Amino acid sequence: MEKAVKINLEAINGFLTREEIIDAKKRALASFDTLINRSGRGNDYLGWLDLPTNTDEAVLQRIDQIVALWKNKIEVVVVIGIGGSYLGAKAAIDALSHSFGAYLGKRSFPVILFAGQNLSEDYMAELFDIIDKKSVACVVISKSGTTTEPAVAFRMIRKSLEERYGKVEAANRIVAITDKSRGALKELADSEGYETFIIPDDVGGRYSVLTPVGLLPIALAGFDIRSLLRGACLMQKICHLRDDNNPAIEYAAIRNALYNKGWKIEILANYNPKLQYFAEWWKQLFGESEGKDGKGIYPASVNYTTDLHSMGQYIQSGERILFESVLSVENPSRCAVIPEDARNMDGLNFIAGKRIDECNKMAEAGTRIAHVDGGVPNIRIIIGNISEYSLGALFYFFEFACGISAYMMGINPFDQPGVEDYKNNMFALLGKPGYEEIAEKLRRRV
Ligand code: PA5
Repeated sequence: MEKAVKINLEAINGFLTREEIIDAKKRALASFDTLINRSGRGNDYLGWLDLPTNTDEAVLQRIDQIVALWKNKIEVVVVIGIGGSYLGAKAAIDALSHSFGAYLGKRSFPVILFAGQNLSEDYMAELFDIIDKKSVACVVISKSGTTTEPAVAFRMIRKSLEERYGKVEAANRIVAITDKSRGALKELADSEGYETFIIPDDVGGRYSVLTPVGLLPIALAGFDIRSLLRGACLMQKICHLRDDNNPAIEYAAIRNALYNKGWKIEILANYNPKLQYFAEWWKQLFGESEGKDGKGIYPASVNYTTDLHSMGQYIQSGERILFESVLSVENPSRCAVIPEDARNMDGLNFIAGKRIDECNKMAEAGTRIAHVDGGVPNIRIIIGNISEYSLGALFYFFEFACGISAYMMGINPFDQPGVEDYKNNMFALLGKPGYEEIAEKLRRRV
């Protein structure tokens, strides 16, 4: 079977014994069974397991219709959401977009701008500086329909759309993606008549990129969501095989074996800045899924070679609690060659005629060897190129591996009880009715 995501574990040798690897794989297989048989904790949130093969063509066609409707009429789509309700779309759109798209001039598809992922007043005010002069539409995404950050942003965007276009046209320019029956957003969408997509009950936020939560914004940005789903489908087939060579089982096994031996931090490294937000998506997936009960590998990320000039020192010789997982892309999509220079003042003629990617690859190989020599175990996760297909495969690969990995630690991967604490304090401090008692206690500490 074609492998959209390959894993190379050669640079683990020396850090784990054969017995430790065998034992970890045995435990990973047991957790694989728990996941695939739907017998573990949080098993009412496993709808994402079959999303690639179960996606309803009618939903894709509704997405196509919105893309066709907005393509020539809308210049900016503001996508509102936070956490799992924005990171997947942001990851894919950044990875697939031209790095300097903002300066390209005429575009065939609207620009996607994100809001509701912070509470920065400057961010919102500056967003309005841009959208006030453009033809705007909005996709608001919240599974619970009650999250403060997106609700605040949506209140502002909705008011602005209604003032500019009137209530009826504003409603044509708003799509809501939310729970099928609960939450303030669902109620509002029903009462205002917004086009609505449903986030299935059994799919949690950080596992929702292959639902309309990710698919609609990615399609609006002009990318091929059917190819994304095909990549995910292939990975679904591969990940569901009960096999020692299943890359998700291998990855989960090795990272857990390392964790048990004291490597508590995993750094996801990339050698292509387009993947920066992919790492943000990955951090949420693993951080929110595993960071519970005083356990969990701390997910961090770096962009190389940029961060070799900032974090490289620590990774090479700081505290030995880090291992690296490198997202390695075999082929760049574009070509740029280093020119010959007659004077050779910079001494670089020895690489003249080479593609920049060859230097990048040698930087990657050289860094791997240096970091391994410095005591940093290295896992390579390899994709052929950055495309819709490979990203779809990568999304599914990490989701599946994360489910296995959390079960190996005895953790429920599908809840996030810790996220509520800050919300309660914030509501109390803002004076939300019903929070008076907590507010009283907190005010003494602020
Ligand atoms: O993974 C999760 O469940 C969370 O990160 C949520 O996606 C995030 O908190 C946003 O929640 P909601 O979509 O309900 O607004």
